[in-house]
Parts: sequence; structure tokens; C-alpha cells
Amino acid sequence: MAATQPHLRIRGLHSHTGSQIQTLDPFAENLRILLRLFATWRERVPELKELNIGGGLGCYYTADDQPLSIEAYIAGIIATAEETCHELDVDLPHLIVEPGRSIVNEAGLTLYQVGGTKTIPGAHKYVFVNGSMADNIRPALYGSCYEAALANRAHEQATETVAIAGRCCESGDMLVWDAQLPAAAPGDLLVVGRTGAYTQSMASNYNRLPKPPVVLVNEGQAHLIVRGETWEDMTRLDIVPEHLR
Ligand SMILES: Cc1ncc(COP(=O)(O)O)c(C=O)c1O
Repeated sequence: MAATQPHLRIRGLHSHTGSQIQTLDPFAENLRILLRLFATWRERVPELKELNIGGGLGCYYTADDQPLSIEAYIAGIIATAEETCHELDVDLPHLIVEPGRSIVNEAGLTLYQVGGTKTIPGAHKYVFVNGSMADNIRPALYGSCYEAALANRAHEQATETVAIAGRCCESGDMLVWDAQLPAAAPGDLLVVGRTGAYTQSMASNYNRLPKPPVVLVNEGQAHLIVRGETWEDMTRLDIVPEHLR
């Protein structure tokens, strides 16, 4: 590599196994594969020092998820690295992880206002909200599941299973398919939990919808940290050619 790419210096190896992984085995297997590669390359590239195993540690979205704790993940990774390095007779490299959702997902939740409901006999009861796949693309894009509640009636028992639909002009614009709620009414506040990862960062202006604001809440204090977009923002980059004015 150095002979053909004299301006590149190889520092280490990097990989990313996948996401929302809830057991240690895939991480450990990936680490063993990388360490074997690392040991082979190290003979030719002595400056190889780092091993980056990417992200992927799963987190809780619904009761179907049973994620590993961060402590169990780190302990498992270190034990696997030490054991494998010992077997291969190489020094422990500088290990790097890139945790994404596992450190931010729990921190976020999304608040919507209920606009109305509609029951389709033999199918679903829909609850419509003023958000959409534009603020959370994950359910529509790859079928992600969330739990929801009515924030202003959180003490009430759930009495029905409803589908939470967004306001985009798409039949696939669903946020939750099976939310357990008390009977929701227009004006209720619907909270979808654990939306800290891959939501606001992937939000779009689909259907020219303005993106919602982001509020940081901590110990009873609330601070606006991202201003919500306005309708004017939706056309701020538009240019009307002279001859059409
Ligand atoms: C290279 C790399 N590192 C880290 C991550 C974060 O993954 P996660 O959010 O599942 O921890 C990703 C996500 O795709 C990635 O591609």
C-alpha cells in the first residue's frame, strides 16, 4: 500500500457489523476476524495500532428488544480482544467503538398533537397526528417499531390498540402500527418514546413540511436548541426568474 499510495499512512482497521445488535456474539466474531487480519498485517505494517469495530449496540424501542447493557458490551469486547490477542500473540491494539443510537436514543422523545381519529371496520382505528415520516422516517422506511402514550393523560389505562398515522400524502406514512392508548381525542398530546437516534438527524421537508423544533429538557428546565422551521423557510431558497415576476 505504502509503495503505491505514498501519502497514505495506515493507522488501523475499521469495520461496522450492523445495527441494533442485541447479543455479544456478532461483535465478538467480528472482533476475532479483525484481530486475525490485524495480526497478519501487523507483520508488514508495524505502525498499525488501531482497531475500530464500529457501532451497532442495540437499544430498547419496544418490549421485543432486550439490549445488552453498555457494561456487558464493553466487558465482552475487552475479554474477547484480550483472549484473541493472547492466542495470536499480538499486543492489544488501541480499540475504538463508535456507539451511535445506544448513547442517544433514550434521550429523545417526540411530541405530537392528535388531530382526529378514523375507524375502518375490520382493519384499524387510526389516530392522526401533526407529525409524519418527515420527522421520523424509520417506521415507513424500514418498519421500525415504537411505543407511544398520551402525554396529557399518562395516568389513564390504555383501552385500545390504534395505528398512528402521519400527515404526509402517502399511505405508508405511519409512525406506530400498534400503539396501546386510552381513546385519543383531538388536541391530546401523543408522545412517541425513544426517538433520540436517526430521527431529527434524518428529518426531511417531505411534502414541503417544516421541520419541528427541538427542546432540551433537563431537571425542570427547558431550552430551545433547534428552531422549528417556518413556512417562509420552505421557500427561502426558491428563485423566481425575472421574466415570471
Ligand atoms: C461506520 C459506522 N459506525 C457507527 C455507526 C452507528 O451505528 P449504531 O447507531 O447502530 O450504533 C454506523 C451506522 O450505520 C456506521 O455505519
